[in-house]
Amino acid sequence: MEKVARVNDTGAIAGLSQSEPIKSLADCDQRQVYTIEEVLNSVIQGDALKVLKKLPEETFDMVFIDPPYFLQLPSRSLKRWTVKTVVEGVDDEWDKFPSFEAYDRFIGELLTQVKRVMKPNATIWVIATYHSIFRIGKILQDLGYWILNDVVWVKTNPMPNWLSVRFTNATETLIWAVKDRSAKGYVFNKEQARQFGIGKVGANVWMLPVCNGGERLRDEMGRKVHSTQKPVELLKRVILTSTHEGALILDPFAGVGTTGYVARALNRNFVMIEINPRYVEWTVKRFGQSLVIGATESE
Ligand SMILES: C[S@@+](CC[C@H](N)C(=O)[O-])C[C@H]1O[C@@H](n2cnc3c(N)ncnc32)[C@H](O)[C@@H]1O
Repeated sequence: MEKVARVNDTGAIAGLSQSEPIKSLADCDQRQVYTIEEVLNSVIQGDALKVLKKLPEETFDMVFIDPPYFLQLPSRSLKRWTVKTVVEGVDDEWDKFPSFEAYDRFIGELLTQVKRVMKPNATIWVIATYHSIFRIGKILQDLGYWILNDVVWVKTNPMPNWLSVRFTNATETLIWAVKDRSAKGYVFNKEQARQFGIGKVGANVWMLPVCNGGERLRDEMGRKVHSTQKPVELLKRVILTSTHEGALILDPFAGVGTTGYVARALNRNFVMIEINPRYVEWTVKRFGQSLVIGATESE
C-alpha cells in the first residue's frame, strides 16, 4: 500500500497499472439482477435508484456518495460585483428538484438502498455543501446510520464571493458513517488520517484545492466536462483512510468517474453508477489516460 500512496515528481501516483480499461454497461428495465462479477470495475449507465435494487446485498466495503446538492441557484445569471463577468455556477438539470421534500425523498430512498448493499462493517462517505449536508445528516441518522466524523474540506482556491453580501463559501463537508451504532471492525487507517488532517494530531480538516489544472476534464472547446468534478486528492484521502487494498467501493453518482479512477490507481475495486451517458463516455475515455494529481498544499 505504501507504494501506491506516494506521489512522484510529475504528480502521478507511482507504480500503478494505469492502462486497464473500464467496462461500461447500460441498465435496462428488463434486467432484474446483477452478479458482482458482471459489474466489477465497471460504470453502469442508469438511474442509481433502480440499479441499486439489482445489486446483491452486503457487498461493498465502502461507499462514496457525491449527490446532487440541490443548490437552488436563481435562474437569472449572476454577475461578479467587481468585474461584472458572469459566474459559471452549477445550474445542471440533474441538480434540480421541485422542493426540499422531493430532495429528501430522493436522498432517503438512495440511502436506504445503499444501506442494503453495504457489508456490516462497511463505511459510507457523503459530501455536500451547506445547501444540503444538514438535511443529509438528519436523514442518515433517521435511517439508523451512526456518524463517525464529519471532515471539513477547506478549499484553498474557492470561488470568490460575488455580491459581497455573505462570507465566501470555502468549505464542503464530508460525513463519514457506519450502518448502525453496533457496527464493529470498520477500516480506519489512522496513520493516513493523521497525515492528511491538519495539525499534529491530524484533525478532521483537509486543506486542498478544487479540481483544476491537468486533472480537470475539458471538451474540445475547453469547457469543463462536468461542473462538479472532484479532485483526485480528495478521493485519494477518502479511499486511503477508510479501505484496504482489494476493497470493493461503490459510487452511485459517478459523474466523470473520479472514484473509480482513483480506486483503480490505489489497487481497490469499484462499481459506479451514472445516469448521464455523456459522463459515462468521458469516464471511459478518462480511464485511458494516466492518473494526474494536482498539487496540494500539504505535499
Ligand atoms: C455531484 S455529481 C458527481 C461528480 C463526481 N464525484 C465526479 O468527480 O465527477 C452528481 C452526479 O450524479 C448524477 N446523477 C444524478 N441523479 C442520478 C441518478 N438518479 N442516478 C445516477 N446518477 C445520477 C449526475 O448526472 C451527476 O453526474
